[in-house]
Amino acid sequence: MAARLIDTINITKMLPDDLLSVYQIEKDSYDFPWSEKIIEDCLFNNYDCFIAKNSRAVGYVIAKISSLDSHILNLTIDANYRGYGIGSSFVDLIIKECRLQGSHSIFLEARVTNSVARKLYQKYGFRSIGLRKNYYKNKSGREDAIVYRKNLIY
Ligand SMILES: CC(C)(COP(=O)(O)OP(=O)(O)OC[C@H]1O[C@@H](n2cnc3c(N)ncnc32)[C@H](O)[C@@H]1OP(=O)(O)O)[C@@H](O)C(=O)NCCC(=O)NCCS
Repeated sequence: MAARLIDTINITKMLPDDLLSVYQIEKDSYDFPWSEKIIEDCLFNNYDCFIAKNSRAVGYVIAKISSLDSHILNLTIDANYRGYGIGSSFVDLIIKECRLQGSHSIFLEARVTNSVARKLYQKYGFRSIGLRKNYYKNKSGREDAIVYRKNLIY
C-alpha cells in the first residue's frame, strides 16, 4: 500500500538552521510576507515555532502560547504540500500544547477571503468573535480580518 504523504512528515521545533527555508516558504506564499527579521525575532524570543519536514521543509507554525491567552500568528504550508493534512497537524499540535500549558483560549486572525484557512480553523472549533476592518494589505488595498477564538475551558 502506498504511504500517505502525511505519514512521511516530521514535525519538530524550529531551529536557527531552519530559518532560510522557512523564509523561502513565507516569501513564496504571500504577496506581503513577514520579513526574515520578524521570523528570526519570533524564534529567538522563544515563541512556539514548529517546522514540518520530509526531505525538506514544507511548512511551519509560529504561535505564542501562554497560560491565559495563546495566539497562532503564522501558519504556512508550501503550496506543493497543501491539502494533505499538514496544516491540520499543526493546529492539532498547537491545541495540545496550549492545553498542556493551561491556556484558556487560543486567538488568531484570518483574511475574510481565505476560505481554506477559515475552514481549517472552524474544523478545530475556532469560532468567529469579531472583525478587524482593513487589517491586512492586499493587492487592491486592504481587507478585513476575522478574529477567531477557541475556548479551552469547559
Ligand atoms: C491554510 C493552510 C495553512 C492549510 O493547510 P493545509 O495543509 O493545506 O490544510 P489541510 O490539508 O490540513 O486541510 C485543512 C482543512 O482545510 C480545508 N481545505 C484544505 N484544502 C482545501 C481546498 N483546496 N479547498 C477548500 N477547503 C480546503 C478543509 O476543511 C480541510 O479539512 P478536511 O480535509 O478535514 O476537510 C494552507 O493552505 C496555506 O499555507 N495557505 C497559504 C497561507 C495561509 O493562508 N495561511 C493561513 C493564514 S490564516
